[in-house]
Amino acid sequence: MTKTVHVPLDTRAYDIHIGQGLLARSGALIAPFLKRPRVAVVTDENVGPLHLEALRAGLADAGIEMSDLTLPAGEATKSWPHLTRTVDWLLDQKVERSDIVLALGGGVIGDLVGFAAAILRRGVRFVQVPTSLLAQVDSSVGGKTGINASQGKNLIGAFHQPTLVLADVDVLGTLAPRDFLAGYGEVIKYGALGDEDFFTWLEKMGPKLASGDVEARVEAVRRSCQMKADIVVRDETEQGDRALLNLGHTFAHALEAATGYSDRLLHGEAVSIGTALAFELSARLGLCSQEDPSRLRAHLRAMGMKTDLGDIDGSLPRAEALLALMAQDKKVVDGQLRFILARGIGQAFVTGDVPPQKVLEVLHDALAAPRK
Ligand code: GLY
Repeated sequence: MTKTVHVPLDTRAYDIHIGQGLLARSGALIAPFLKRPRVAVVTDENVGPLHLEALRAGLADAGIEMSDLTLPAGEATKSWPHLTRTVDWLLDQKVERSDIVLALGGGVIGDLVGFAAAILRRGVRFVQVPTSLLAQVDSSVGGKTGINASQGKNLIGAFHQPTLVLADVDVLGTLAPRDFLAGYGEVIKYGALGDEDFFTWLEKMGPKLASGDVEARVEAVRRSCQMKADIVVRDETEQGDRALLNLGHTFAHALEAATGYSDRLLHGEAVSIGTALAFELSARLGLCSQEDPSRLRAHLRAMGMKTDLGDIDGSLPRAEALLALMAQDKKVVDGQLRFILARGIGQAFVTGDVPPQKVLEVLHDALAAPRK
C-alpha cells in the first residue's frame, strides 16, 4: 500500500510517496528524473549501516549506480565543516547540474544535503529519503534546508524544494522508541494546529501507531504530509501561514537551548512540551478553554511522551532566563516575540500580541509543578 501526496508548487511541484518497500523500489521511482543512471547518496553513521545496501539494491534494480558518503550522526553535522566536506565530495563525484543528489537519513542529513544541493553549481536537484518519523512528517517536506550557526539553529540556509520524497515506513521499524515518540510529537502538532478530527483519530490510533501498525503509520504520515503540503503551497517562504508549523517551537527552542541541544531533550520532545505550553498560554489568555491543554496533555501522557518541564532530567534555568532564550528565536520581529496560539484543538493562529508577563507566569508555574 503506497499513498502519494502531491505538492503543487508550479515548476517546483513534487510527489511524496508514503508506504512500505520504497527503498526496494527506489530505482523505479527515481529513474524518470535522471538524465544518466547514477546518483550521489549522503547518509550518516547510524542510518548507513541499516539502510544503505537496501537502497543500493533498489537503485541497481533499475540499473542506477550510486556513490555514497557517510557523515557522523548528530546535530553537530549540520555545520560549515560538514557542508564543505559534502560539497567537495559532490564535486569530486563530478555531480553535474542535471544529476540528482539523494539524502538518506533524518532531519540533520536532509537539511544539510538539501542545502549542499541548493548551492552546488547554483542548484542541483535532490531526493529526500527520510528515515526518522520526524523527517517523514516534517523536515523532508517543504524545502527548508540549511545548517546551524554558532549564533543559533538553522540560521544559514535556503529554500530548495526536493524533486521527490520517498517516505518508507518500514525504516521506522529500526527507530528506538524514544526517537519514534519524538517524531510523534510533530504528528500531534498537525492535529493540534489545524485538524481536530486528525487529533481525535490520533487519540484512538496513537498506541497502534507506536506499536508498529503499518496502515496507521502510513495514514498518519500521509495526513501530516498533506497538511504540511497545503500550508507550504499557501506560503512557501514563510511570510505568513507557514509559521503555524512552528506551534510549540518558541517554547521548544528555548528549552533546547537551555538543555544544550543534547540528549537530555530531543527536538520532538521539546515540541511536545512546547505545544502543551502554547495551549496552556492560550487558555490563560482566555483564547481557549482549560479543557484543551488538559486534553492535549492527556494524550501526550497516554503515549508516554514528555509533557511537562518536570519530565526533563536535571535542572532548568529560571522562567526569566527561559523567556530571554525565547527572545533569541528566529520568529522575533522588531524585538517582539511571535507565538502560535490556539482557539481550540485544531485552531491555531499566529500572533505577536502576547504580554511577556503572561508567558513568564506560564513558565513560572510549569517550573514549580511537582515532578512526576
Ligand atoms: N518545520 C517547519 C517548516 O517547515 O516550516
